[in-house]
Amino acid sequence: MNEILQQLGQIKIIPVIALDRAETAVPLGEALLAGGLPCAEITFRTAAAAEAIEKMRTAFPEMLVGAGTVLTAEQAQKAQEAGANFIVTPGFDAAVVDWCLARSVPITPGVITPTDINQALAKGLDVLKFFPAEAAGGIKLLKAIAAPYVGVKFIPTGGIGANNLADYLRLPMVHACGGSFMVKKEWLAAGQFDKVKEATEQAVAIAKNL
Ligand code: 3PG
Repeated sequence: MNEILQQLGQIKIIPVIALDRAETAVPLGEALLAGGLPCAEITFRTAAAAEAIEKMRTAFPEMLVGAGTVLTAEQAQKAQEAGANFIVTPGFDAAVVDWCLARSVPITPGVITPTDINQALAKGLDVLKFFPAEAAGGIKLLKAIAAPYVGVKFIPTGGIGANNLADYLRLPMVHACGGSFMVKKEWLAAGQFDKVKEATEQAVAIAKNL
């Protein structure tokens, strides 16, 4: 397994972030680090994504900063140029996966069906985002879908919070969990980084006490 993806598996929780202003990236990174999470997935759902990745990477070189919601190879390139450590896609997109593999950029494509997983395996990938986890069927679906794919690791994302994080993290096929619950949009907009730190600490405590 790729070293960056291995590190994500040790960190166990990936905050999924949509930033309207790139300037938010630095105080946000500070709050995440203070709360005990040295990683972030900054999504290309906003125009500020690439600049935010660059700012967070520059201010905190010790953090793993990924680009999320990458839909095209062009976005993957922007993310790489901004210094992203890894790429996350919501679904399986062969063009984005090929772009990343050709440049040894770690990628976790989204999967939700056995067909998606087969496509990812054919590309040699073994750490996959399971999205949208809760809406699609949650732990029941994940257990059923993972059963034939021994050795494949999943990063469930979508609908995960402090209430169900431990249940996911206890599963042997779960590598880490992604979620926005410790980086709520309204907190970021209001500059409430103390709330980010508090929710991050809470999530880290859950992951430590499985
Ligand atoms: C994602 O982009 O991965 C999800 O939107 C995160 O899902 P959540 O907001 O339900 O945690």
